[in-house]
Amino acid sequence: MENKMRAIYDYAKEKMAQDFSGHGFDHILRVVANVERLLETETQADAFVTKAAAYLHDTVDDKVVADEQAAYLELHNFLISLQLSESQVTAILDILHNMSFSKSLDKKEIRLSLEGQLVQDADRLDALGAVGILRTAYFGGKKGHPIYDPEIQSIDYQSKSDYRKGSTVINHFYEKLLLLAATMNTEAAKIEGQRRTEFMENFLKEFFYEWPKSEK
Ligand code: ADP
Ligand code: NI
Repeated sequence: MENKMRAIYDYAKEKMAQDFSGHGFDHILRVVANVERLLETETQADAFVTKAAAYLHDTVDDKVVADEQAAYLELHNFLISLQLSESQVTAILDILHNMSFSKSLDKKEIRLSLEGQLVQDADRLDALGAVGILRTAYFGGKKGHPIYDPEIQSIDYQSKSDYRKGSTVINHFYEKLLLLAATMNTEAAKIEGQRRTEFMENFLKEFFYEWPKSEK
């Protein structure tokens, strides 16, 4: 790995080490692997900016850091210390500002660069499939949500604060995960997203087969 990317890797690893909500450094490494695959077909994208943003994308998120503004300032100073060009620094920070699912609930008009679209697709792919199922259960356990309760309706989220409350692990599939494949920016992510979604649909079928029928 080139020196600047290695420093970015180390920075992200240190920041994500304390996360036990499914956004640890293992999530970051899968998102980077996903962008590397997407870069093979999206050859016009700047690979350095895309990979750097993939490593850093959760280091400034409110679910990982207590003070988002302080985290941005620290990251900005770090990127300048690496002597990246001003346009690289701006491109990376813009992606982090605009890419997250929860942010898209509050700000309807978000424009993402091509590099940002790849990181967003890569992050969304990691919410799907076998890993996505486990991350969702892991997150729900940490928040104290039940696995499933037929009495609790899914929420139709209109804002980030509604979304952050959550309801049950199984509801999260209907509230978010099954809707993600249709939101992918790139063709490759749409195809892979669809494949992972079918896997989750089979999982849900099996889940409801195993769950006792309620007596009414
Ligand atoms: P973003 O970073 O794009 O805003 P999140 O970090 O909120 O998205 O979601 C990432 C993953 O965390 C989800 O795909 C899911 O696995 C888990 N997660 C987030 N919110 C919930 C929830 N309410 N219930 C269960 N899992 C959740
Ligand atoms: Ni992420």
